[in-house]
Amino acid sequence: MVLIAPSILSADFACLGKEVASVSKAGADMIHIDVMDGHFVPNLTFGPCVIRDIRKYTDLPFDVHLMMTNPGEFIGSFAEAGADMITVHLESGENVSDLISKIKKVGCRVGLSIRPKTNINAIIPYLPDIDLILVMAVEPGFGGQRFQKQAIARIAEIKDLIGRKEVQIAVDGGVNDVTAPACIVAGADILVAGSYIFGKRSYAKAIQILKEGVR
Ligand code: DX5
Ligand code: ZN
Repeated sequence: MVLIAPSILSADFACLGKEVASVSKAGADMIHIDVMDGHFVPNLTFGPCVIRDIRKYTDLPFDVHLMMTNPGEFIGSFAEAGADMITVHLESGENVSDLISKIKKVGCRVGLSIRPKTNINAIIPYLPDIDLILVMAVEPGFGGQRFQKQAIARIAEIKDLIGRKEVQIAVDGGVNDVTAPACIVAGADILVAGSYIFGKRSYAKAIQILKEGVR
């Protein structure tokens, strides 16, 4: 069954710990944490100290999605703050193999993310060394954007590239009750959803709808 990773970008930052606890109780499988630096993407969020403080509100794994130009400098700090998986962008400008080694060295699982316009063949050299591909279905930077339909075909193509390797596929951006079913059929293992889940009164209901594909 597909796993659900609520993105706390759309949570109420004034009570982030409580939000993390609520969404965990509502059936989330992991917590997706969007770190933005104002350079790689035109938006700013938070750094390791916020992650450290919300760590005590849930036992679920933290997937920390680094949308930054210099992720390598911060991998140690994010691991110390409580990240279980660290996801870096193929387009960060840093050497991807070095980033993968650094993430492994600090004991975290490795995610690699690609923007909507990046050629998917660029991930091939890294597939033997990573745990997850995070397929962006929107340009990274903001929650609440419209799902770009070509993400469906990209997920299916990535699924083929992965073959029998143990690499999970996550889709991030614009995931909701309408777009989730096609992502699942195409091969997504994890759905990242921010505004859809946090915009609903019942987080449990929203998560259930995404999981079961029932509308
Ligand atoms: C976008 C982030 C996403 C974002 C998704 O740059 O990586 O994780 O929070 O938000 P929604 O689900 O609202 O598109
Ligand atoms: Zn994200």
